[in-house]
Amino acid sequence: MGYLTGKTAIVTGASRGIGKASAETLAAEGADLYVCCRKETAEFIRWAEQLAEENKIGVIPLYFDLSESASVENAFMGIVKEKKKIDILVNNAAVSYGTALSMMPISKIKELFDINFFEQLHIIQLISKLMMRQRSGCIINISSVSGIEAFQGNIAYGSSKAALIYATKVISKELAPFGIRVNAIAPGTVKTDMESTRTAEQLSEVINRTSMKRTAEPAEVADAVCWLAGDKASFVTGQVIIVDGGRMNV
Ligand SMILES: NC(=O)c1ccc[n+]([C@@H]2O[C@H](COP(=O)([O-])OP(=O)(O)OC[C@H]3O[C@@H](n4cnc5c(N)ncnc54)[C@H](OP(=O)(O)O)[C@@H]3O)[C@@H](O)[C@H]2O)c1
Repeated sequence: MGYLTGKTAIVTGASRGIGKASAETLAAEGADLYVCCRKETAEFIRWAEQLAEENKIGVIPLYFDLSESASVENAFMGIVKEKKKIDILVNNAAVSYGTALSMMPISKIKELFDINFFEQLHIIQLISKLMMRQRSGCIINISSVSGIEAFQGNIAYGSSKAALIYATKVISKELAPFGIRVNAIAPGTVKTDMESTRTAEQLSEVINRTSMKRTAEPAEVADAVCWLAGDKASFVTGQVIIVDGGRMNV
């Protein structure tokens, strides 16, 4: 029996990085999965089939683009209509781009907020209805230390992640009476495609400011996801778990 045997989880952004590592960690602990990304690819299908086979679990791929609200609605329609049992929602998919406020058109900031904030709320609305019926569930929003600390040139991404932290706290209060826990994880810098957009100079600056003097492996964030998802975190809600190797000047 794994830590999450008998539970069903949705992981968004499961094709790469933290989402992929989270899906693999939850699978290893016995959870059945819905794994999400934008487009079906042979590689994603092969990975999902392998995950199912190796862990003897059910793995169903779902496809949607968070920049298109209707595609999100369509992707979850079946689950919602059939009133599937969903125990865990990992809201992980997001994008990171931007520059100083003076250089960034408001339309681009709104575009990022649609993906990183509004559609995250949309998914929570859809899935929490099922959890409310069940009177149980766990929602994990992947935010960022950028939502806590202010970095120059990070107006769009940082603000979207700060909004997600605030929403996590509000929603945790609204859903607690239904037995649903809602938490956020705020990773520092993690070795993924998203991190690779930083220049070598930016990266070494971040590493120097980190107590542990390194960046994180995606699996180190996935372990926090896994703990929050299960009963060992049964009295934890409305929290932001920082997984950043210790920032010196926070
Ligand atoms: N990496 C870091 O240093 C870091 C630090 C703090 C917080 N985070 C947060 O951790 C989470 C995962 O980041 P990551 O570094 O693992 O990212 P990543 O490697 O860039 O992967 C992003 C994932 O999100 C999906 N995605 C992107 N845009 C999407 C859209 N419009 N619609 C649907 N899915 C979309 C991607 O799917 P496709 O394959 O279909 O593109 C991919 O699976 C994010 O919330 C990020 O903000 C990351």
